Amino acid sequence: MTEDVAAARIRTLCGPLTPRLGLVLGSGLGGLASQVTEAQRLSYTDLPGFPRPGGVAGHAGELVVGRLAGVPVICLNGRAHFYEGHGAGVMAPAIRSLKAAGLTGLILTNAAGSLRREVAPGRVSLISDHINFLPGNPLVGPNDDTIGPRFFSMRDAYDPALRKLIRAVAADLGVDLAEGVYLAYSGPNFETPAEIRAFRVLGADLVGMSTVPEVLVARHCGLRVAAFSVVTNLAEGMGDETLSHEHTQSQAVVGGAVLASILIAALPRLEALVS
Ligand code: HPA
Repeated sequence: MTEDVAAARIRTLCGPLTPRLGLVLGSGLGGLASQVTEAQRLSYTDLPGFPRPGGVAGHAGELVVGRLAGVPVICLNGRAHFYEGHGAGVMAPAIRSLKAAGLTGLILTNAAGSLRREVAPGRVSLISDHINFLPGNPLVGPNDDTIGPRFFSMRDAYDPALRKLIRAVAADLGVDLAEGVYLAYSGPNFETPAEIRAFRVLGADLVGMSTVPEVLVARHCGLRVAAFSVVTNLAEGMGDETLSHEHTQSQAVVGGAVLASILIAALPRLEALVS
């Protein structure tokens, strides 16, 4: 199977390290990969089933193995998105390869718009739950029972124990960590102001164009999940600025640094929880 070939390559790259935690680094948040020590890198093009990034600025495609805060990790630096024209399952082989390589937990990150005025650009939010507003689901189609069950619960998909630990670490650091529901929108355009008003009524606190398909695949194969949004903007219609990719990318740096400090402080305890 494709996943087994990729997993074997990843394990070889790991050498003596046995990472339990993976990190998916969202757009503008790849800086963490440069803090990995003892780093070994592999381009997605050398990993069967991994996405071939469509060239969106800031979306690299590289797997990095090494240590963060002393903890063995595998980073996926760059992801493919639904709006690039792939199906919702574009990240499925990559996530399943990580699981086959020995991971037990996955931490996902993204840049997002905030639907709550008090959660301003530069803030970091834990994701507590999601609304899949994408016109697709990566698990549609024949089910491979060796990977996961046909039907499964998405209650507590964003692991309550991991979230509790992360909240405690953020409090110790004096970081005002938000927490909310993430709605996945197809893009590539940003939402209309009317859509944002509708999404607020639906219960969304954050809006973005990624993460949800990866969480579905990760939970299906039994990985424990935590996910963060770095708030780069108030959602369309709420603020003064007209949204652009350049604007969100530039704002990702501020919250990205806060997120990095939370992760570095939390990783040793997160690893203990998932091991
Ligand atoms: N909408 C969708 N995706 C995003 C946004 C947004 O406002 N900000 C960053 N990514």
